[in-house]
Amino acid sequence: RGVPDVTEQSAVDHRACGHGKIILLGEHAVVYGSHAIAAPVPLAVRAVAQDTKSGGVDMFIPRWGVEYRLHRDPAHRDSFQRSLGIIFDTLELTERSMRIEVFPNVPRAMGLGGSAAMAVAVIRALDQHYKLGLGDEEINALAFRCEEVAHGSASGIDNTVATYGKPLLYKRASKKGDAPMVRELHLPKRIPIVIGISGKESLTAVTVGKVRTAWQRNPVLYDGIFQQIDGLTLQGMEAMQQYDLERLGDLMNICHGLLNALRVSSWEVEELVQIAREHGALGAKLTGGGGGGSIVALCPQNREKVAAAMRDAGYQAMEVDIG
Ligand code: MEV
Repeated sequence: RGVPDVTEQSAVDHRACGHGKIILLGEHAVVYGSHAIAAPVPLAVRAVAQDTKSGGVDMFIPRWGVEYRLHRDPAHRDSFQRSLGIIFDTLELTERSMRIEVFPNVPRAMGLGGSAAMAVAVIRALDQHYKLGLGDEEINALAFRCEEVAHGSASGIDNTVATYGKPLLYKRASKKGDAPMVRELHLPKRIPIVIGISGKESLTAVTVGKVRTAWQRNPVLYDGIFQQIDGLTLQGMEAMQQYDLERLGDLMNICHGLLNALRVSSWEVEELVQIAREHGALGAKLTGGGGGGSIVALCPQNREKVAAAMRDAGYQAMEVDIG
């Protein structure tokens, strides 16, 4: 009766997943040891592994038109292969013959944790296919190593949300090798957010690198900004737990001002923030690496209006509930 029709829906069931994320407060400062608050979004990267007779590891990302054979020797890998290549080396799968297909529903380079979600999805696909018995902690640790390559000095927050898919307060360990502080946030009610997507691709490695250069020139000045972000993130956690959205909105607005001071905003990001505030958002700020990418707007009353205004201005908007 021919080849069975594999619908999108039935295919989803056996694909491994890594969650996309937003950062509500604390990005960039978290790289320097401050707290940050992040939450998963209903966008995920999925992946599936299959045996082949091709004699190597073949990676397919049809949506991006990406197809490549993983180079066995890490020294010969290009920048795209380098990060995911760590997974195959660590799991000792580089010599296998397989096809990995990736379905990225997190937009690329938009500050929504796409690279971490992809690493987690690929690790989970390999874990399922080869029955490796990896726990979430091991998956998270391996995805962190991929992130370090992708981001330069990653804090580990993106891979943690990609792995666990829960809202959380995060603080990196002060010593390399120690475990970070991760606390799941339990909220009394879900928090209504609009994600505004600028469409301007931006690599987190680049903005993290720019902040590092500025910090190296004047550590005292920048440490002061990171401390302020740390303080408002901890206040933000309280506001979320008390469902005090006015206060949370204020903190998001101030956080955006500080991120702007770090020069990780962009023309598009500023326009999206202004649109959100003018249409009644209580707070609006860039999310993730910045330099383009996405913003988050806190919209308890007029969410459709804010999202519609962003779309009218030529941007994408997504309404999500956090918590
Ligand atoms: C990226 O989502 C968040 C940054 O703080 C980088 C990191 O924490 O690794 C900009």
